[in-house]
Amino acid sequence: MITLRNLRKVYGDVTALDGVSLHIDKATIHGIVGESGAGKSTLVRCLTGLERPTEGAIELAGQDIAALGEKDLRLARRTIGMVFQNVHLFDSRTALSNIAYPLRVSGTDKATALAKAQELLTLVGIGDRGAAYPGQLSGGQRQRVGIARALITEPDVLLLDEPTSALDAGSTNAILDLVRDIRDRLGVTVVIITHEMEVVRAVCDGVTLLEHGRIVETGRVRDVVADARTRLSHSLAPLPPLPVDSDASLDVFFTSMPGNPTGARVFEQIARAGGDIAAGTLETIDGVQVGRVAISTPTHATEVVARALRENGLHVEGRDNVVR
Ligand SMILES: Nc1ncnc2c1ncn2[C@@H]1O[C@H](COP(=O)(O)OP(=O)(O)O)[C@@H](O)[C@H]1O
Ligand SMILES: [Mg+2]
Repeated sequence: MITLRNLRKVYGDVTALDGVSLHIDKATIHGIVGESGAGKSTLVRCLTGLERPTEGAIELAGQDIAALGEKDLRLARRTIGMVFQNVHLFDSRTALSNIAYPLRVSGTDKATALAKAQELLTLVGIGDRGAAYPGQLSGGQRQRVGIARALITEPDVLLLDEPTSALDAGSTNAILDLVRDIRDRLGVTVVIITHEMEVVRAVCDGVTLLEHGRIVETGRVRDVVADARTRLSHSLAPLPPLPVDSDASLDVFFTSMPGNPTGARVFEQIARAGGDIAAGTLETIDGVQVGRVAISTPTHATEVVARALRENGLHVEGRDNVVR
């Protein structure tokens, strides 16, 4: 559905995107993560055609966005819905009128536009708030109105730039449920820019880590999380904090991918090898069970315990480079 080929965007002497190539399947949710300044917003602006890339191709629903003239670009933009962190609504228009607006400017008659707007308001779960003005809505409700407005032109792609970072935990979960629903019911391809790993864990099928305008890691969430060596695995399934005086010397990582041991069996193996669990997590992300455990070992036995666990197929790393 979306294919980026060697995308570059240069602003003066800043290279915001430096050769980004990426494919995102139809009806999936793809998260773009990375530190501030990594190029996430630039990427989204290029996708919407708001910004012209310096180099590269952006294939979106079968068209190369980067190569379109102004007129075709305006048409193509209708296939892309966009929602920003601080959703910009017209304060003097009701929720319903805000949602209907994109159809009204493109010439749809008022009754049809409002009927469609009501449908979408219901879809986003606040069907009874159509007459409310933005000032009368909560942050989460305004975000829903923004999403409904982005969907009214029936886009193939929905781009969300930090859609939940201004919301409390309850509203965040509700918006994420909605995004999942939009993928499943409308078959829309969703790209979410976020700095919150929780968002990726909760809804994303795919994820890309950007750094200095380059892709550092990318793939299906289940694949990156199951690979102990990726940075994304560490940030998606982190070890809980250890007590400051902990003498844990090894980190053990395991997943429930075929052929690997899981849960109780791992704990048994650790005990048998002479390890003592200091902290750990076990959770399911994108269908993969992922465990991370920090263990203490008897003095001078760290290497022996590590070897025993590795022989059992577990991924073992030394803490503070105790074991290589
Ligand atoms: N319009 C612009 N003019 C000049 N530099 C820009 C512009 N937009 C972004 N940049 C620079 O490009 C880099 C990437 O920015 P951005 O895409 O906003 O990152 P992110 O969204 O990941 O925080 C930053 O160094 C930023 O300062
Ligand atoms: Mg940004």
